[in-house]
Amino acid sequence: MAANRRQSLRAEALRREIERHNRLYYLEDAPEITDAEYDRLLRELMDLEARHPELLAPDSPTQRVGAPPLAAFPEVSHRTPMLSLSNALDEDEARAFDRRVREALGEEEVAYAAEPKFDGLAISLNYRDGIFVQGATRGDGAAGEDVTPNLRTVRSIPLRLDAAADTADLEVRGEVLMYREDFERLNSRQREAGEREFVNPRNAAAGGLRQLDSRITARRPLRFFAYGVGHAPGAGWRTHAEVLDRLQELGFPVCAERATVRGIDGLLRYYAEIGARRDRLPYAIDGVVYKVNRLDWQEKLGFVSRAPRFAVAHKYPAEEQATEVLGIDVQVGRTGAITPVARLRPVFVGGVTVTNATLHNEEELRRKDVRVGDTVVVRRAGDVIPEVVSVRLEARPAAAQPFRLPLQCPVCGSAVVRGGDEAIARCSGGLFCPAQRKQALLHFAGRRAMDIEGLGERLVDQLVERDLVRTPADLFSLSLEQLAGLERMAQKSAENLLAALAQAKQARLERFIFALGIRNVGEATARDLARHFGGLDRLMAADEAALQAAPDVGPVVARSIRQFFDEPHNRDVIRKLREAGVAWEEHAPAPIPPAGAARVFVLTGTLERMSRDQARELIESRGHKVAGAVSKKTDYVVAGADAGGKLARARELGIAVLDEAGLLQLLKGDETR
Ligand code: IVH
Repeated sequence: MAANRRQSLRAEALRREIERHNRLYYLEDAPEITDAEYDRLLRELMDLEARHPELLAPDSPTQRVGAPPLAAFPEVSHRTPMLSLSNALDEDEARAFDRRVREALGEEEVAYAAEPKFDGLAISLNYRDGIFVQGATRGDGAAGEDVTPNLRTVRSIPLRLDAAADTADLEVRGEVLMYREDFERLNSRQREAGEREFVNPRNAAAGGLRQLDSRITARRPLRFFAYGVGHAPGAGWRTHAEVLDRLQELGFPVCAERATVRGIDGLLRYYAEIGARRDRLPYAIDGVVYKVNRLDWQEKLGFVSRAPRFAVAHKYPAEEQATEVLGIDVQVGRTGAITPVARLRPVFVGGVTVTNATLHNEEELRRKDVRVGDTVVVRRAGDVIPEVVSVRLEARPAAAQPFRLPLQCPVCGSAVVRGGDEAIARCSGGLFCPAQRKQALLHFAGRRAMDIEGLGERLVDQLVERDLVRTPADLFSLSLEQLAGLERMAQKSAENLLAALAQAKQARLERFIFALGIRNVGEATARDLARHFGGLDRLMAADEAALQAAPDVGPVVARSIRQFFDEPHNRDVIRKLREAGVAWEEHAPAPIPPAGAARVFVLTGTLERMSRDQARELIESRGHKVAGAVSKKTDYVVAGADAGGKLARARELGIAVLDEAGLLQLLKGDETR
């Protein structure tokens, strides 16, 4: 049925509205509606067009969802060749460019337009009477592929321009690319769907644009930035800056980083400024482009072979480079985490020579399947540690074998263990493994652990490097002579350290347990364990089921405690610590209240005879729990002086309120139970 006037007006209104939202989103970064609302508008227009095909127009935003697949891309000749840029690889070459320009023009100083060199794909867009009619890739520069349906899906490319002298016949040039953030999101979607991940934003953008089925392109988050015009007979621009201003006015995305600068000093300043911000830009760049700003001067300078004389690309050091994997080492980190590291044929990347790159963990290693002998792409951006991005499978030697992580720690020989569904393999050597020793010693001596004053990082480094200390137990047999012989260690400091060590021997069980550095056992768990078991031997003897009977100890924590004490080295260290005189008070294990007899207490206000912490300890030592907030699950609220909101809430819920004496009375009853 032919559309009536109301329907055709509605279709036109929807088209304008949808494109307005595209502009708000992509150009102004200020969306006014949600994605769902946007989709609703689009769907309404699609419905209208489906029912009344005569309403369909090539500039309709519905064309952005993609068209049926093509058999092949038609070839198109560019009316003006799409040229390449010559490169300036360092400052000298940038200076040489400026010198050549000045000499050819006979000018003292030249104004340049400077802009980022986008790391995407060059594209040409043709508009007739303001309507986007054809878009093409660069191809060999003379002819490219007609990818019009694909480019229509790129929401930041305007499908219609205001009618004007310069839009009757206009060819705009620019770059299609993917924002890094969109790339990460796309890759995590791929990962979740079990699909292949893309290597970098550039590949993902290029692959997206080369889809014969534009409905696939439509699902790639592609963007466009205009950087020039190929053909514009109706325009009378005088400078490149004017060109970009006009393109922006017409609704093309033009990057905000562009600038006009004077002379080589201006260029080099621009290069440094953009270089410093490179990692924070939303898109990848591989350099900046300098263009003589005056268009008549551009014409005068002309071209050499296939590159203009009026422009140059000043490159930044590449952030990605290919190199060979010479070997794969494993490093043992602070918590025993085993990190595979690729040893590389030295390669200059991101401005430094890189010889190692992390492979993160076993899961990553398996996913990327990096093998000795492989050619890999290495990435180093900013200050981040170099990493292996991908493997060039086509270059893999036939004999290359998959790499397996060792079953034993390469440093201490202890078993390498994997915790359930954890991606990380760990050395189980704990206190015994030299790689973990330094960190373990620092942890042991820490303020919240054994609190050994004066045992800082620099000292621990020396003690371990000179092999004076291998385990925390060795700390207690250090002599004054040994200590005084260390760098930057005065006699007095050595004496102070020995005194601190002597003092630390008077320990508390909970702090000692925490100091051991058992994985997943923090301060709170150590306190619970000390209270629950009352003595170290009972803790060490407990099986996983017995461990889980302690408050807040689940299967994961129970397993890591068991693994720790099962390691003979760890038991050995503990024995030596005790022999050295480290001791603590033990007590009977906490009574386990019969099922259902454990109560939940909430403390509020100031108590008189004990601190809140002491009250908590007392309550917990009887097998009860202390919660932070009053809820229906609370059995008692213990209220001291100036109790506030929690007391009010208890009254509201009808919960029993105790004073200090009432609490003690109640707990006494527990003891006789
Ligand atoms: S102007 C005649 N400006 O660099 C000059 N090109 O080697 C034509 N590129 O494939 C190019 N950012 O895709 C120009 N701001 C920019 C650019 C840029 C990236 C790419 C372009 C082309 C290559 C030229």
